[in-house]
Amino acid sequence: VMTRGARAFITPLTMQTVSGHPVHLHLLDASAESGMGHIELARWADVVLIAPASANVIAKLAHGHADDLLSTLCLATQAPIAVAPAMNQQMWQNPATQANVAVLEKRGITILGPALGSQACGETGAGRLLEAAELVTRIAGLFHTGRLAGLNVVVTAGPTWEALDPVRGLTNRSSGKMGYAVATAAQEAGAQVTLISGPTKLCPPARTQFVSVVSAEDMYNAVHAHIADAAIFISVAAVADYRPVIQQPQKIKRNTEIQTLDLVKNPDILASVAALPTPPFTVGFAAETTELERHARAKLNLKGIDLIAANHVAGATGGFDVDENQLTLIHHGEVIELPLLPKIQLARLLLQHIAGFYHAKHKTQDPRRAHR
Ligand code: PMT
Repeated sequence: VMTRGARAFITPLTMQTVSGHPVHLHLLDASAESGMGHIELARWADVVLIAPASANVIAKLAHGHADDLLSTLCLATQAPIAVAPAMNQQMWQNPATQANVAVLEKRGITILGPALGSQACGETGAGRLLEAAELVTRIAGLFHTGRLAGLNVVVTAGPTWEALDPVRGLTNRSSGKMGYAVATAAQEAGAQVTLISGPTKLCPPARTQFVSVVSAEDMYNAVHAHIADAAIFISVAAVADYRPVIQQPQKIKRNTEIQTLDLVKNPDILASVAALPTPPFTVGFAAETTELERHARAKLNLKGIDLIAANHVAGATGGFDVDENQLTLIHHGEVIELPLLPKIQLARLLLQHIAGFYHAKHKTQDPRRAHR
C-alpha cells in the first residue's frame, strides 16, 4: 500500500517491479470484489508493517483517521500492526509525536526504531528508519511473540447449556468471541492452546486443540482432563451457575399455569482449578453490571485465583456478542485499565500482561515447578 507521500518519492510501477507484488493505492478499488479493497486487505494481512512511517501517518493512526487506503486498512484490520518511524530527529522528539507514539503503544501497536545516526536532512539523532534486515527479523517475532513458548494454556469460552428437556434449557449470554480471541492470542504468543468451548457459532481458531462441550459439568470434566500439564488457565466461559435437578427425557408439556423449576448449583470450575495442589496460573473473567472493581476483587479473593479481568456487560460498549470490549485487570494490589479495542487486539494486550505476571511469579518460585 503506497500513500500519496510515498508516491512522491517512488512510483507504484517501480515498487511493483522490484517487489514482484501488486501495489494498492486507492480506498475504493473497483477491481476488488464488492469495491471494498481495504476490507479485503485488512482481512488478508497477517501483520501490517508501516515502513517508513512519517510523523503524519503516526498522528493519523493515533487519532483514528480513515481518509486514505493505509489509515482505513489499519482501522479495519485485526492483524498486529507495527510502525517503523522515519523522520527528522526534531520531529521525532516533538512532544506531539511522542504523545502519539505513546497512544499507539498503549493500543498494542509495535514501534520498531527509529535508529540513531546521520539523517538525509543533514542532522544527526534518532529518526532513521531501521535497516530492512532488522525490520524483517523484528516482524517475524510478531507472528509468535514467544512469551509463552513451550507452555500449555487451557482456555474456556462461550456459554454452557443446561438442558431442561430435549428442546429447552438454561444458558448465559456469550458468543464466544472474547474466549476465542484469548485462545488465538495465546497461540500467537507461542503457547500450545487447548480451547474448551460451550456451544457457539464460531469456527475453532487454527492450531489449537479444540474440545466442544455443552453443560457446565461437561466443561468441568474437560478442564480437569486437560489441566495436569497446563501452565496457565484462562476461564473466559460464561458458565451457568445452576442446572435443573431433573433433565426430562421428553419435551415438558404445557399443562399447568405455573411450573416450578428445581435447580442445583454447578461446580465452580475456576475455583476448583485454583484449589489444585499445584495449580496453574489461574485467570478469571468477571462479567459485572455494577461496581465492577469491587465485585471483581471479591471474586478474585473468593476463588483464590491469580488475576481477574473484569468487564462491564450492561453498558453501551463492550461485553457480550459485540466485537469490542474493555477490561480492568486486577492482580492483587495492582489495577490495570485496558482500552476499548477489537477483542483480538484486547486479547493480545491481556496475554502480554498474563505472560508478564506468570514469568514474574515463576522467577521467585522453585524452578522445578516452573512449568506450572
Ligand atoms: O463471549 P462474548 O460474547 O465475547 O462475551 C464475553 C464475556 C462477556 C462472556 C466474557 O468477557 C466474560 O466476562 N466471561 C465471564 C462470564 C462470567 O461467567 O462471569 P462470572 O462473573 O459469572 O464468573 C466469574 C468467573 O468464574 C469466570 O471466569 C467464569 O468463567 C468462572 N466460573 C463461573 C461459574 C462457574 N460455575 N464456574 C466458573 O468457572
